Amino acid sequence: MIPETNGDSGAFTDEAVWSRLDAAHLPLGPFSDTTIDRLIRSARLGSAPRILDIGCGLGAWILRALELHPDAHGVGIDISRKYMDRAVADAERRGLGERFVGHVGDAWDMDLSEEGFDLVICVGLSDPLGGTEKVLRELIRPRLRDGGLILLGEPFWERPPNQVAQRALGVSAERYPDADGVYDRVMAGGGLPIDVHVSTITEWDEYMWACVRALAEWGLDDAPHEQRAGILRFMADYRDAWLREIRGTLGFTTLLLRPLPLPLSILTGRRPDWAAKPRTR
Ligand SMILES: C[S@@+](CC[C@H](N)C(=O)[O-])C[C@H]1O[C@@H](n2cnc3c(N)ncnc32)[C@H](O)[C@@H]1O
Repeated sequence: MIPETNGDSGAFTDEAVWSRLDAAHLPLGPFSDTTIDRLIRSARLGSAPRILDIGCGLGAWILRALELHPDAHGVGIDISRKYMDRAVADAERRGLGERFVGHVGDAWDMDLSEEGFDLVICVGLSDPLGGTEKVLRELIRPRLRDGGLILLGEPFWERPPNQVAQRALGVSAERYPDADGVYDRVMAGGGLPIDVHVSTITEWDEYMWACVRALAEWGLDDAPHEQRAGILRFMADYRDAWLREIRGTLGFTTLLLRPLPLPLSILTGRRPDWAAKPRTR
């Protein structure tokens, strides 16, 4: 979500940063605990729900969902073994081990024969998985039970990114939509938004400073001496890319969606610009 590589070493990736986040900030994105609780509660799941978290990272969403629903069962999948090992260990520590199954692998290779899910969470990875519309139609919706809901988290531009911001993030301006464009993509994928959270600047600051702090502690306290200078230089570039280029430019929104069949998604989609706008009050 934030600079892929920076500085001379080229060895730093999102994984290098995220795997150093500690229990003080488990979400790999700009979400407070309050936001996660509110959106999970907003899904109003029934009894003994089954929950799938695609790209679950350190398990921030799925493990909290299992805590909020003591009769729920959860499945997480993530391509990173490092994150999954930590998610599984955290599930054990929080007494959720019996109700959580973690798979390491590519989300597209997931077994479809499993029973469907009442809630599918997919926060922060539609872009590497091929785009919002494809992910909704081909990856998420086939895994839902009747009546199941989706929690989808998507980046967007708060304002058009300049060249420096695009380079720092390793993405072109066209890659993400603006805030309104997220709705277009979601509805094109057959999802009807029924609740939405837009990450606040405070959530962004808490998340990004947790990353900077983790890098600083790594470089100052934990890394072998010969690596320290490279890590601290990366930390400083990461921090300054955030403060100067990305803060206020990159946004993030998490939507609770009901899947709709095609005829209904046409009915509930955007009116074209040429159509007369009805009165709403
Ligand atoms: C931005 S992080 C979000 C993690 C988590 N959803 C959260 O909100 O804390 C994206 C996650 O997607 C995982 N990921 C990326 N590509 C993947 C793929 N093809 N299949 C499964 N997981 C993938 C990454 O390892 C990472 O944990």
